[in-house]
Formats: sequence, structure tokens, C-alpha cells
Amino acid sequence: MTLRTLALLALLGAPAGAQAADRECAQSPAGVIEVCVSVAGGKAHYEVSRKGVAVLAPSELGLSFAGEQAARYTGLSNPRRASVDTHWEQPWGEQRLIRDNHNELTVTLTGDTALNKSVDVTFRIFDEGLGFRYAYGAIPAGQPVAVTADRTQFALTGPYQAWWYQGLGQERDEYLYTQTDARRITLAETPLTMKGANGLYLSFHEAALVDFPSMLLQGNGSGTLTAWLMPWPDGVLAKKAGPFATPWRTLLIGESAGALADSRIELNLNEPSRLPDIRSWFKPGKYVGVWWEMHLNKTTWGSGRSHGATTANVRQYIDFAAKYGFDGVLVEGWNQGWDGDWVANGDKFSFTRSYPDFDLPGLTAYGQSKGVKLIGHHETAGAVVNYENQLEEAMKLYQSVGVSAVKTGYVRHSGTIADRDGGQQWFAGQYMVDHHLKVVETAARHRIAINTHEPVKDTGLRRTWPNWISREGARGQEFNAWGNPTNPPEHITILPFTRMLAGPMDYTPGIFDLVHGQEALTRRVQSTLATQLALYVVLYSPIHMAADLPENYEARPDAFQFIRDVPTDWEVSRTLAAEIGDYVVVARQPRGGKDWFLGAVTDENARRLTQRLDFLAPGKRYEAQIYRDDPGADYRTNPTSYEIVKQGVTHADTLTLDLAPGGGTAIRFKALD
Ligand code: NOJ
Ligand code: CA
Repeated sequence: MTLRTLALLALLGAPAGAQAADRECAQSPAGVIEVCVSVAGGKAHYEVSRKGVAVLAPSELGLSFAGEQAARYTGLSNPRRASVDTHWEQPWGEQRLIRDNHNELTVTLTGDTALNKSVDVTFRIFDEGLGFRYAYGAIPAGQPVAVTADRTQFALTGPYQAWWYQGLGQERDEYLYTQTDARRITLAETPLTMKGANGLYLSFHEAALVDFPSMLLQGNGSGTLTAWLMPWPDGVLAKKAGPFATPWRTLLIGESAGALADSRIELNLNEPSRLPDIRSWFKPGKYVGVWWEMHLNKTTWGSGRSHGATTANVRQYIDFAAKYGFDGVLVEGWNQGWDGDWVANGDKFSFTRSYPDFDLPGLTAYGQSKGVKLIGHHETAGAVVNYENQLEEAMKLYQSVGVSAVKTGYVRHSGTIADRDGGQQWFAGQYMVDHHLKVVETAARHRIAINTHEPVKDTGLRRTWPNWISREGARGQEFNAWGNPTNPPEHITILPFTRMLAGPMDYTPGIFDLVHGQEALTRRVQSTLATQLALYVVLYSPIHMAADLPENYEARPDAFQFIRDVPTDWEVSRTLAAEIGDYVVVARQPRGGKDWFLGAVTDENARRLTQRLDFLAPGKRYEAQIYRDDPGADYRTNPTSYEIVKQGVTHADTLTLDLAPGGGTAIRFKALD
């Protein structure tokens, strides 16, 4: 028992001798993290410490339901403990083999209301963080219940700086991050990442978000955050029937930003794959597509003279993909419904009828003859009823022509998504969480992988449903076409420690024409060209786009070579050095390969980093193919100036990485023996 808890119990008037049975503690396998759960004064609390230092002060637990007052918890009983140390293999990923090493503690809370009379809380405690969930197992089968409050708190114990944006914005998760004192958080999306004055890095999120609303975190002005669940239009948070378990509430705790990024807790807290044969019908890879040209207003999604998705144009992309070794060609604007205000008229989209100048079977057959897959596209504009009504037929059509990946989109202001009852839904309430999983499950039956834009945030569900290959869910490259402002350089040094902790992102890197005819810096891609290459390593996704126009790649074949060489499936990944919002250096080894790749990016400041190469195999020689900013490069004045140098290295060497303002370095370490 900590002094803090004793003091708390004294405050609450609990008799000191009576709480022994009402308090249970458990530690992580190496004893790094300890969690204690207790009941006192009618409330259930948990608290978290790391190496003996309090990280979360006693923080409330529990849910409330319609028709009941907030329960008073009167007891804690039946502690059950378990330990796990095992490895499992991802079909693809940032890391092939994942170690799951945790201790588990489950306790039963006794409450004084019908629905809260018996609640199991399970903690899984890893050396780099924890997850916990509620199981309301005693609710009678089939009984409808409505969750009206989530009392779960996260009470910080000291000052932290947080990277966050205001939740509930109409653009969902497509916002720039601000950095403030954590006490200034009003309502923040997760992963919510912080750095403490004590040197600890924390990130709050959730895992296995299934049939439940997405969780945001609400601040109280003094460092205590409370779970805030995205409601239904009638104000209910979650609608369940019979016994249920919540998603895991997770907290990563590390001594470096990299420790957060290299944690695999998110995946470990999800159920094993339901698609054991997925590698036989989908493979990670790189793609090009009829995409950036529309975002630059060179062609249109809608029909007419400037239509982008014409048979002739797509054939050219297929030729380009085949020539340079890309696996897929994304085609947006192929189907009827884009004409006029498609965001307002999402219910007009057909997902089976092509525009007359787009020959779907002809193009998929042409692609097949060249070893290139067409990547499908379903923009719903948030008209999810229209989409669900066509879902089966839409997937069937794509499967019949051999399309094995579909990008989906939900461009519509959050809070205005019409449901079947005419209600207005947020983008990530329980209704939309269920919708997205329905799409993924339907797609899986048709052996199709899904890459969701404007998604519900990732919570590691790619372990269970590996066909949910990637998502957007942050400001991606598209903002560098038309955003005002475009993404500032620091954005990509924040993403790896915030959005990317949730899972892969379809950022669509690789723009070479960084200025794209824009005069103002804040309307262009605010990075150097070398940075665009580094992003393929820094940001993990099993599918990465080479987003620029083919002619811009053909104009710079030497730099393009890196995009051609870099894989999207890794044996091992390691964040070598980082400071959130300043810089990040990541190394990854290709799955089953001997090479290594490195990506480094900085914010608006030039930076010299000294990087040891001790991740390379000892005793082996490598050719380092280095794509870096030219000495004169600067994202403001000279973004396309790069140099490519080759030098022999071993694991005993150190490299100096000189990053220009907004700059980066991309390296392939080619194994020579
Ligand atoms: C938004 C997506 O993020 C983007 O990639 C896509 O091109 C448009 N929606 C149109 O569907
Ligand atoms: Ca988007």
C-alpha cells in the first residue's frame, strides 16, 4: 500500500484494517509497472506506478446505465491472476514476430445497482504499459442496456506537455496538433501522447474497439482526464444487449518517445486473426494511382472532358506501374455519382455502375496481363445507408474482376452522418464503429482488403481483421495539395508518436514536385524531396502510395529508385532516435531480407544527428545508398535539392545525418555478404 493510498483511505474515512481485501495489486513481468485496484468510500479506483514512482493517482472506474443511479461500489473480490509470455506472427507488419509478455489481474467489483452488481475489471500489465477493460458479465442474456456515462479516469500526477487537437471537429481527425500543458486539454482524441517534466512519455488510447463508441479524453483543468464516449443522436453512449465487455483502455509508459512507437501492446490486446489464409489473397505492396492529379485540379472525379478515370488514362498508369514494379493502381472517380456536389449527394453514388469511359473488366484484365492489380475505390460521402445497401453487390463486383483491395472514404462533416433512422451520427460513435467493421467483414468474405479514409481511429483491429490494411485518420498528403495551410514540417515528426501509435496510415508520400505551381509556402508541400523518401520508412503501412504524377518520377529516376526499392513489410522495426515534434529516425529490416532501411526527418530546423549503425548485423558489410538533402536544401527555398551517395559501412560505423530545414534522409543498407 502506498502512502498516497493510505492518505486517500483516511480521507474517505475507510477503516485502515478493512481495506486489505478491497485492494489488489499486480506488477508487469519485470516488475517495471505496478497497478493497484481498490474500493473505498463507494468508489472503485486503480492507480499506476512505474519503478516505484506514481504515474496515475487513484483514478475512478466504472460505467453508468440508463434507469440507474451511478453505482456505489462496495466491494472487490475474487482476484484471478495469469501470466503470458508468447510470440505470435503477423501476416505482414512493422514486425513479423510479436512478443506478448504480460501479467493479468482480474477482480470483481460489487456495486449497489442491478447492472453494476458484478463487474469484472481485467488489467493486462506489460513492462511498457497496460490495458484494462470492464466485463459486465452478469447482465441477463438479451437484456437491452444503455450506457450513459463512462466514469473511467486517468489522473496525472505531475506536469506534462501534450500533443493533441480538439475532438469533435467537423473534419474528424484531420487536424494539426498543438502542444500545450496537459491541464489545458479540453476534449482530445486518442492516441493522446504526453511528455512529463519527470522525463516519462505517456500515451493514452484504446484497443479492440468493437461495437462500442470511440473514446475521447476530457480534461478537468487540473490534470485528470475522463473517458468521453462519442454518443448516439439520443445522447446514449453505447447500446448493448446482454453481457458485454468494453474495449481495452490503454496506457503506454516509456522513457523515450521511441519506446512508445516500438511498443506492440495495441496489437497484443486484440484477438488473433480470423483470416489465417489472408496471405494467399492479399499481399502488401506499393501503388500509384489516378489521385494526386485530381487533388491538383488537373483532372476531375466527375465525368466530362477532364475526367481522370478514363480507360486510356488508367492504361497509362498500369503501364507505368508495370514498368517500375508497382503492385497496384488506385482509380478514384470510376463510378457514377461524382457529378455535382458529391459530398452533399452521397446517396447518389453507385458502387457497381462505371462511368461509360471507364472499362472495369477490360482494365483489370489488362492489369492482370502486366502483373498489376487495380485498387478499387468506394467514396461514400458518409451516406452509409446507401453504401450498406450496395455493399454485398459492390464487393462481389470487385471480386469478380480480381480487385483485392478497396479504398473507402467518408468525406462528410462529423456529426452529420445520417443513419437508418434519420439520426445524425458522429464519425466514430458506436453506429459508425459497427458500420466500419461490417464493411471489413463483408470485404473479407469477398477476399478484399480495406484501406479506410476518414475512418474511425485504429485500435489494433488489424490483428483480428488483417484485411483492414490501412487507414487515413490524420492530416495526410492530400492537405499538401489544397490545405490552407498545408502540413508544416513538424507534423510528420509528431505523427509517429500520436496517430501512428494506433496503427498503419495511408499517408501517401512521395511528392517530388513539392511546389506544384504554388507561390506561398503554406500552400505547397512543406518538405524537401529527401524527406518524401524518408517517409516510406518513418511511417509504417503495408501499402504505400507513390502519390506524385508519373512524369515527376520519370524526371528524377535516381531519387525514384528509392521508392522502387523500399518494401512495405518488415521483419523488425526500431525507432532509433526521436523527440516529438522535432525529429525522428527509424530503421526497419525487410521481412525475410538482409538489407536494412533507415528514414530520418526533422521539423523546420536543420539538424545534425549522429547515428550509430549498431542495428546492422555484426561482421557483415553493407553498401549504404544514402538519399539526403543537398547542403543548400531548404524546404522554404530549395526543396528539390538532394544528393545520392554510396559508401561501405558496417555495424561498427557511425553516420552523420545532416537534415536541412524540413529535410530528411533515406538510406538503403544493401547487404553485400
Ligand atoms: C478523401 C480521401 O482522403 C482522399 O484520398 C480521396 O481522394 C477523396 N476523399 C475522394 O474520395
Ligand atoms: Ca481525407
